[in-house]
Amino acid sequence: MSDSNLEQAQADGKYIRTVRSFVKREGRLTKGQAAALERSWPIMGLTHQQGLLDLTQVFGREAPTVLEIGFGMGKSLVAMAAAAPEKNFIGIEVHRPGVGACLMEAETAGLTNLRVYEHDAVEVLRDCIADGALDTVQVFFPDPWHKKRHHKRRLIQPAFVEALRPKLALGGVLHLATDWENYAEHMLEVMSGAANWRNLAEDQGYIPRPSERPLTKFEQRGERLGHGVWDLKFSRIG
Ligand SMILES: C[S@@+](CC[C@H](N)C(=O)[O-])C[C@H]1O[C@@H](n2cnc3c(N)ncnc32)[C@H](O)[C@@H]1O
Repeated sequence: MSDSNLEQAQADGKYIRTVRSFVKREGRLTKGQAAALERSWPIMGLTHQQGLLDLTQVFGREAPTVLEIGFGMGKSLVAMAAAAPEKNFIGIEVHRPGVGACLMEAETAGLTNLRVYEHDAVEVLRDCIADGALDTVQVFFPDPWHKKRHHKRRLIQPAFVEALRPKLALGGVLHLATDWENYAEHMLEVMSGAANWRNLAEDQGYIPRPSERPLTKFEQRGERLGHGVWDLKFSRIG
């Protein structure tokens, strides 16, 4: 359906679900996650309803800002924020238990440079992030949507990266990683075909895992089993 048809249908009061990259699961919170949400949400939580963010006000300083989409349980996000206290980190995740788990980890690490959203990243980027505000956007192991008929649900698509690009400062970097070869190829195709990006891989393909991306347990196991992981970095050049 074209955008104008969709708008017309919505104006006519028809409910039409647009394609999303996730399925909202109502997972139960553990006691620890619930307690962390109660304690730390007032300090670290951001809402879509707040609208456009003033990063200097949110973090109480001016610093380069890294945004992670779909942080899962937040392990690598917290590790990265702990390793780079000179940067601001914003995480976005739709799965509430994951947000709770991330806050628990952030409390243990004593982080003050992390804020999180429990919302669709597509809408947060569109409505809450000012143009040029971000230094890095990272998307690690996004849902691969294995079946061909589901590929349209993959987050990394031409329209998405085009909407994301102005949110990065010039020279800012989009860092993607996946353990699904077909999605890696799809990412490379989308990014190589998109205007105003430069592939940071010398051979215009993938890069070795950069040291700032923590190795996940799952990835360590995968490495032993000979499974691959593909990292891609593209910088905004226009
Ligand atoms: C396969 S998991 C990977 C999680 C984590 N990055 C990791 O490496 O363990 C993908 C995550 O992205 C989240 N997600 C998918 N689409 C999203 C969206 N549009 N906005 C925010 N989170 C999203 C899902 O809820 C899920 O937790």
